[in-house]
Amino acid sequence: MAIVSSHHLQPADQPPEKASPEKASKTAKSTEPLLQGTTLDTEEQGSQEETLRPQSMDEYIGQKDLKDVLSIAIQAAQSRGECLDHLLFYGPPGLGKTTISQILAQAMGVKLHLTSAPALSSPKDIAGLLVNIKPGDLLFIDEIHRLPRVSEEILYPAMEDFRLDITIGKGRSARITSIALPRFTLVGATTKIGALTSPLRDRFGLVQRLRFYELDELEAIVTRTARLLEIAIEPMGANELARRSRGTPRIANRLLRRVRDYAQVKAEGTITQTVAAKALELFNVDPMGLDWTDRKLLQTLIENYGGGPVGLDTLAAATGEDSQTLEEVYEPYLLQIGYLQRTPRGRMATASAYQHLGYQALQIPSEQLPLDMR
Ligand code: ADE
Repeated sequence: MAIVSSHHLQPADQPPEKASPEKASKTAKSTEPLLQGTTLDTEEQGSQEETLRPQSMDEYIGQKDLKDVLSIAIQAAQSRGECLDHLLFYGPPGLGKTTISQILAQAMGVKLHLTSAPALSSPKDIAGLLVNIKPGDLLFIDEIHRLPRVSEEILYPAMEDFRLDITIGKGRSARITSIALPRFTLVGATTKIGALTSPLRDRFGLVQRLRFYELDELEAIVTRTARLLEIAIEPMGANELARRSRGTPRIANRLLRRVRDYAQVKAEGTITQTVAAKALELFNVDPMGLDWTDRKLLQTLIENYGGGPVGLDTLAAATGEDSQTLEEVYEPYLLQIGYLQRTPRGRMATASAYQHLGYQALQIPSEQLPLDMR
């Protein structure tokens, strides 16, 4: 399988202790967003990332339901001699949308063309990609919810009738010329399925969510990566890393590299549970995997707004993050672990968040709580 990329897209101790609000607020904001699932690796790490990526469904750890669905789709398409239906993957960043697409292309024996919506600002960008597609190829568009409307409209006939409509000329003399395209599979990836227009969403035959990984799955991923990078790690070291990785393989692998550095310089080279916990404490990653921004967000909710409800923009201003990053990168994990609730009136901190941050008790009058939290 060949991969063609039209932009730089990379895939990407000690016993648990409670995080104290004082300690957290005194800790400086980390300049390196280690805990973001978004891609920020250096070029060198990016190419290393490629060699770490699982190459087949068997090597891919976790996402069992997704793998089952895709394995059936692959077998069915192959037995009919057809290409795969258009696929839409959604879920928080770093969960493996690109990786699973590479495995799909590999399994189908076709080329994967990688791009991202911000690189397709004009219709001719998409047209340029489409005319280079060969029968059965996969066209992966990351962040597809950011596609401008004019570019999106080029996709409709391309997805439905494998036809590229090009407008030649302007105004009253404008004409539409159609070019036949080979059958291909569009793979859309998004962190925000709700932001997709329904005409686009409805054109995908398979819509699949990628979920956060379980602890044992992350342990297995960390252990696999450590083996490939020849890093000495004890099972409890892998467990500590996995626990602080926000259910996200990309974060687990990134933390593994940082902890390896720490183990080399400050310990004997082996990642034990104590070494992993000490290193991650130093990198400001707490025992639940929360970083400065997560804690700031929850503290703001609790200290300034009695636990909420508070609007997203207010929280964004308080943490200095933009609301899109909070919504797409930070909130999904806080919601998943039950530290945050989204209500029609805004975001609320839960009792578990109070407890984790070392606050006495949930000081919210019960009448202010949504019905399901009373
Ligand atoms: N590396 C990153 N994600 C992985 C996964 N799901 N399985 C195996 N290795 C990985």
